[in-house]
Amino acid sequence: MIATICRKAHFNAAHRLHNPKWSDEKNRAVFGKCNSPNYHGHNFDLEVRIRGEVNPDTGFVMDLAVLGKVIKDEIESRFDHKNLNEDCPEFEGILPSTEYFVKIIYDILKPKLDSGQKLHITLFETQKNAAEYGDW
Ligand code: NI
Repeated sequence: MIATICRKAHFNAAHRLHNPKWSDEKNRAVFGKCNSPNYHGHNFDLEVRIRGEVNPDTGFVMDLAVLGKVIKDEIESRFDHKNLNEDCPEFEGILPSTEYFVKIIYDILKPKLDSGQKLHITLFETQKNAAEYGDW
């Protein structure tokens, strides 16, 4: 039997969306408040979904407590209360948009799964705005 499990997490981080190839005026027009020169914070809500075979010995796809610890150690401790532009080498040379951020989180977590388990990440930047990335 195949099933999907979901673990949620929450962290806060600051960023600034600014494309150095553009004028200040164009950056303000495209990115709005996210172009604010002195950065600004977001309360990120993360949803990590893992799809795979249910182990008949446990009834689990994966122990959610173990998954929670992986997310805490690999994602929350890395990004919580950080300035994504200044503190996080993962964003070197790319814009810290939710779309790129969700792919970065996927790439960090994917090697932690058993082979055959699929991963799908949803990252909410605000209550209304989210990006998703995954292998299904
Ligand atoms: Ni923003």
